[in-house]
Amino acid sequence: DKGNHRHFMEKEIHEQPEVISHALSAYIDFIENKVSPAATAIDFSRVPSLAISACGTAYLAGLIGKYWFERYARLPVEADVASEFRYRNIPLPKEAAAFFISQSGETADTLASLRYCRENGLAIGAVVNARESTIARESDAIFPILAGPEIGVASTKAFTCQLTVLAAMAIGAGRMRGTVSETEEQALVRHLVEMPRLMAGVLKSVQPQVEGLARDLSRCRDVLYLGRGTSFPLAMEGALKLKEISYIHAEGYAAGELKHGPIALIDENMPVIVIAPFDRFFEKTVSNMQEAAARGGRIVLITDTKGAAACGDLQTMATILLPDVDELIQPMIFSLPIQLLAYHTAVFMGTDVDQPRNLAKSVTVE
Ligand code: F6R
Repeated sequence: DKGNHRHFMEKEIHEQPEVISHALSAYIDFIENKVSPAATAIDFSRVPSLAISACGTAYLAGLIGKYWFERYARLPVEADVASEFRYRNIPLPKEAAAFFISQSGETADTLASLRYCRENGLAIGAVVNARESTIARESDAIFPILAGPEIGVASTKAFTCQLTVLAAMAIGAGRMRGTVSETEEQALVRHLVEMPRLMAGVLKSVQPQVEGLARDLSRCRDVLYLGRGTSFPLAMEGALKLKEISYIHAEGYAAGELKHGPIALIDENMPVIVIAPFDRFFEKTVSNMQEAAARGGRIVLITDTKGAAACGDLQTMATILLPDVDELIQPMIFSLPIQLLAYHTAVFMGTDVDQPRNLAKSVTVE
């Protein structure tokens, strides 16, 4: 049931504050402001490294997870799309742990990667939405994302729930490995706990502006998304979402890669969506944005209050303003305008948003 929404995708975007709350209640101890044992069902204290394998949006959640596990738990992480991971014959220490992220829990390539790791003796963790799935069944530890059924083919709430669970796991891993102190854990957990309220606010505040912008995007042939740090996988997720449902060609790039190729594409017909929270990379990303602007690119800046202030009177096609939040939760908060932009662009184009052409919700063929 879509309730009063036009599409399941719209409903699922707006459900995020609620489902993130569910996910948090399983992985967070709200009284102690700590990560619950559910987040550390794998003993991270002993593992020398982590391998993450998944497809599509789940892979992009895994890439963001990689940044977190490296930063908070100081664990080296190998993250790759499952269709490459499974064939690369990766030398993996058997003491390592491997995560497989999958909404459906049935994706053929992800399952094949899991079996490869199992044969090599690794500890297997499944970050899944469908608990009764093959990937869940074949794992040593299950990390349910608790997003509830996701009907829209384009993944939205499953993505932010995957991120929420991965964030809790990375903090838990950091505690086990002594790289996150008790005080740091409490501070990080408090940020996670703020998410549902912040998300509800953002969903309301950006709506009118995003709709206007979507009208402009629906007339474009190509769109470039840029980001640095965890905003880089998010740039790829933004591009993936837009192409899936609006059929507009889009690319997501690491901001620093702009001058190594894609800058050649930029002209006055090319919107460049820059995902730039005011983080430690902000200035670098803004300088890439200025390079794009100098070549006539139409800039859509997605930033926060501090970022907007630091930019001064920069000319943009639009600036989408989000609240200032801790770096840990930026990917979840910044996902919202990205999802809404793709959604409303597709609505303007009149495509079949919930069932885009050529795509299936569960990809059980290789
Ligand atoms: C994107 C999308 C796909 C899936 C991918 C993996 O919006 O939905 O890219 O993320 O097919 O599917 P699961 O997570 O079921 O393994």
